[in-house]
Amino acid sequence: MAKIIDGKAIAQEVRNELKGKVADLTHKGITPGLTVILVGNNPASEVYVRGKIRACEEVGIRSELISLPAEVSEADLLLKIKELNKDDQVHGILVQLPLPNHISESNVIETIAYQKDVDGFHPESVGRMVTGLETFLPCTPHGIMELLSRTGVDLNGKHAVVVGRSNIVGKPMALLLQQQNATVTMCHSRTVDLPSFTRQADVLVAAVGKVGLITKEHVKEGAVVIDVAMNRDVEGKLCGDVLFDEVSEVASAITPVPGGVGPMTIAMLLKNTVISAERVLQQV
Ligand code: GUN
Repeated sequence: MAKIIDGKAIAQEVRNELKGKVADLTHKGITPGLTVILVGNNPASEVYVRGKIRACEEVGIRSELISLPAEVSEADLLLKIKELNKDDQVHGILVQLPLPNHISESNVIETIAYQKDVDGFHPESVGRMVTGLETFLPCTPHGIMELLSRTGVDLNGKHAVVVGRSNIVGKPMALLLQQQNATVTMCHSRTVDLPSFTRQADVLVAAVGKVGLITKEHVKEGAVVIDVAMNRDVEGKLCGDVLFDEVSEVASAITPVPGGVGPMTIAMLLKNTVISAERVLQQV
């Protein structure tokens, strides 16, 4: 039976480490600050944003939630972001995605000063990550790397297979795994014969958003399986892309949903915010 990778416990470990840093920074006159902008009332986004604000409070990061109506104009949203870019108290700016259709996500992301882009979505952040320069790494793949390293998974020379090619997870995930010396294969919705690839994985990351996508037949004996998705099954219960019970019989380690990757995403957001505040201190 697979060992369950307890993301909730590891995220708590990370938050405990951050508490000390936040206290230290606050003592030096810089309280790390994160501003989250939520547009409209997508129920899932509301839940995620609440989790982010609560986590800030726990570690002592000053957080602010700006809720804007779904009808807000793109121009008004960009104006708000520009104000926050100039605000010295704000070290991190996060605009929760998805946005209503009349607002361009790329215009929004590109307006955030990349020095405050704690999501790591700005093209400057992405380019810096690709070339291996210091930058904010996107929180979900960063959290997964942290989970793997704190679980003692050695990626050197291993075959990692990433299913999903989103900008937020799949693409950066493949890159970070490769930077840690894994050989990486990327699969996606047009991949022909998915199991023939996933069965080769020493580390399998599923980030598609499709219930039941990864079955026992997709997984090699002893593989480490990371489930990034947050789906609802037919009964409305939270679940990932991986059939947890049957895959647990073949994997050596597996993340549950919920309680696996999700808490780590938030922990990395806090970490990025603290790093951003530390940079201010280094400049003065
Ligand atoms: N929507 C889903 N995941 C994320 C995330 O990591 N950051 C933001 N800003 N929006 C999201």
